[in-house]
Amino acid sequence: MRIEDHHDTVSFPDGFTWGVATSAYQIEGAVAEDGRLPSVWDTFCRQKGAIRNGDTGDVASDHYHRFREDVQLMRQLQVPAYRFSISWPRVVSFDSGTVNEAGLAFYDALVNELLGAGIQPWVTLFHWDLPQSLQDQGGWLNPNTIACFADYTKAVVERLSDRVRHWITINEPQCIVHFGHGDGSHAPGLKLDLREQLVAAHNVLLAHGNAVAVIREHARTPPIVGWAVVGNTFSPVTEMERDLEAARRATMGVDGQNLWNNTWFNDPVYFGRYPEDGLKAYGAAAPKWNSREMEIISSPLDFLGLNVYTGKQVVANGGDSWEEIELTSGVPCTSMGWPVRGECLYWGPRFHSERYQTPIIITENGMANLDWVQLDGQVRDPQRIDYMNRHLLSLYECIRDGCDVRGYLYWSLLDNFEWADGFQRRFGLIHVDFESERRIPKSSAYWYQRVIRSNGQSLFEERESNF
Ligand code: GCO
Repeated sequence: MRIEDHHDTVSFPDGFTWGVATSAYQIEGAVAEDGRLPSVWDTFCRQKGAIRNGDTGDVASDHYHRFREDVQLMRQLQVPAYRFSISWPRVVSFDSGTVNEAGLAFYDALVNELLGAGIQPWVTLFHWDLPQSLQDQGGWLNPNTIACFADYTKAVVERLSDRVRHWITINEPQCIVHFGHGDGSHAPGLKLDLREQLVAAHNVLLAHGNAVAVIREHARTPPIVGWAVVGNTFSPVTEMERDLEAARRATMGVDGQNLWNNTWFNDPVYFGRYPEDGLKAYGAAAPKWNSREMEIISSPLDFLGLNVYTGKQVVANGGDSWEEIELTSGVPCTSMGWPVRGECLYWGPRFHSERYQTPIIITENGMANLDWVQLDGQVRDPQRIDYMNRHLLSLYECIRDGCDVRGYLYWSLLDNFEWADGFQRRFGLIHVDFESERRIPKSSAYWYQRVIRSNGQSLFEERESNF
């Protein structure tokens, strides 16, 4: 029975982590300040036509200068955890091969501000902003990048791990490879063949595994380490076993045309091997590897981070095959055009939990909305409230059905630079005026505050959005 059909009280597990997420390039700005060197995104934004309206992350949400204000907003909203990423080119200067002290000092101050506000820092080491100097040497196609990532990880962990325990090595390897090296819609904007994309993916996996070992060796407090992946989530059109199995196969399968999938990345990390269907699908394009590499890649993790925004529906159509249910026109969609399918936060964590038998954190879930400041100065976003309500009810149901989900980090704290879409897509709980940089918490921020304070029980108390 779908949970919306009955009104029992709901409470997420004791100790469940509620929070918000951001990334460096999308919010910081200050791209040439205090020794920060260019990243591939600084370069990509200057490619004509690459970013909507010619937007760049040069200033973004100006978080580099306004981080204290942003932390205080999180404190006022009683957000317990904050996932942010470190800008690699801000903290390691490759020209001199040394650490850029001023860059590290920014994250030092941010972590201290968070702890002072009672907010738990979760650090993502790589959220796509590769130093351009490394890209000039081949980037993720060059195995040397793996060692550079280890050096960068060591510098950050040595500086922050006396206060930071939660670490995410890499965000969305699927996007790094598929959008950055496949269709070219993300930095560095390459359109490589499958073989080279698979080489890049293998190096990203090795960089991840290496970084896990570096964190565990150098952390000054017991680290809690994971990585954050995105991929397809398929839900069954009915809960009949054949449709459920079809959705599981669709979610955990490899399409030989591209690298947009879950298992090509997670199976090496959790099983120390590439999935058989992927090896078959990719054939001769598959990379060469050895057992030592798979040993590194499968360094044990403490949690699997899932970034889940939407999903698709499938129906079994005989044998092992399945068919995607085409969307009817007019289905509710976010301003990214992504269908609103709350059940994706049931089936996505459930299928990953079944396969990998690991604790799960929802490291990103959220929606882009056509938010604006109304005449009375408020930013009301009932769509985001309803979106979050639907997804959190499904997540609760997934937990109640036995999945070990330990946290939910809303994407995103602030309206920010949404990659190729620029500033057009507003994901934030807090509205940002990108001219004045003024922050205004939206009605969803106060709604989420009640969810956090009640550990989810308020999901049932306000059926109507009275915000
Ligand atoms: C991602 C990235 C975020 C995006 C968000 C909305 O998941 O693509 O982690 O940086 O901004 O997901 O697309």
